[in-house]
Amino acid sequence: MDHYAVWGNPIAQSKSPQIHQFFAQQTGQTLSYSAQLGDLDQFEQQLQDFFAQGGKGCNITAPFKERAFALAHSHSERCLTAEACNTLKRLDNGQLYADNTDGAGLVSDLQRLNWLKPQQKILILGAGGASKGVLLPLLQAQQHISIANRTLEKAQQLAEKFAHYGQIKAYDLAHIPLQHFDLIINATSLGLQGQVVDIDEEILKNATALYDMQYAKQQDTPFIQRGKQLGVGQLSDGLGMLIGQAAHAFALWRGVMPDTTPLLGLLKEER
Ligand code: ATR
Repeated sequence: MDHYAVWGNPIAQSKSPQIHQFFAQQTGQTLSYSAQLGDLDQFEQQLQDFFAQGGKGCNITAPFKERAFALAHSHSERCLTAEACNTLKRLDNGQLYADNTDGAGLVSDLQRLNWLKPQQKILILGAGGASKGVLLPLLQAQQHISIANRTLEKAQQLAEKFAHYGQIKAYDLAHIPLQHFDLIINATSLGLQGQVVDIDEEILKNATALYDMQYAKQQDTPFIQRGKQLGVGQLSDGLGMLIGQAAHAFALWRGVMPDTTPLLGLLKEER
């Protein structure tokens, strides 16, 4: 039986085994998929052992995405621009191919929500790894991006790096233009501390939709809570993106794209 895994630290909270087993059942495939605790010192050796023992592919989550990127022999373009890997596939010649399906997962979820139309104005809050991972697929979907970050230089570096893929401008959080955005995406890590990034509330209020790349069990994320308080009509957390990135990884490994809709309903009920 083909074996797959997700590597991270911590890993106990991961929904990936459940998601991939669901996809396997849905598409009539037989495979095993386990959660693996990566060792902060021995991660590379662990991965090499996993593949030496016949592992076909794996997902990579925090804090190993950059280390997996460095370990791979070849990379997709979206992985190269993200400079981080969330999906590894062992090729027939034994070499490791790295992909990053986070951005494709986000784009698929925005399509599911019917929030993706060409040439929209999208504001992304944050210029860290989460943001870098989704920029190429969003620009390829013809979105006009403004990226705002506490540290302006990091937003500027991303805007420069991605400029030849489409329209992208950089701001610091205090100088975001007071305009209408079709969509504002939270890609900061602040929700983990129960906080919302500090920007002019008028900008949030005027947006058509808010999307939080994070999700929380049994409650709204702080960003979604703020959106509700401000009366923004369309709100979504990142559960659909999580399922979407898994679906794109599954497609890379197994050659078939699963239907994410039934699983999203199931996981929403569970939490
Ligand atoms: P991730 O991989 O989750 O993106 P990261 O690379 O550490 O994690 O990036 C975290 C993001 O959240 C960054 O954009 C960071 O802003 P800085 O680049 O200025 O550090 C943002 N962030 C974290 N804490 C923040 C805070 N208190 N206020 C505003 N932005 C914050």
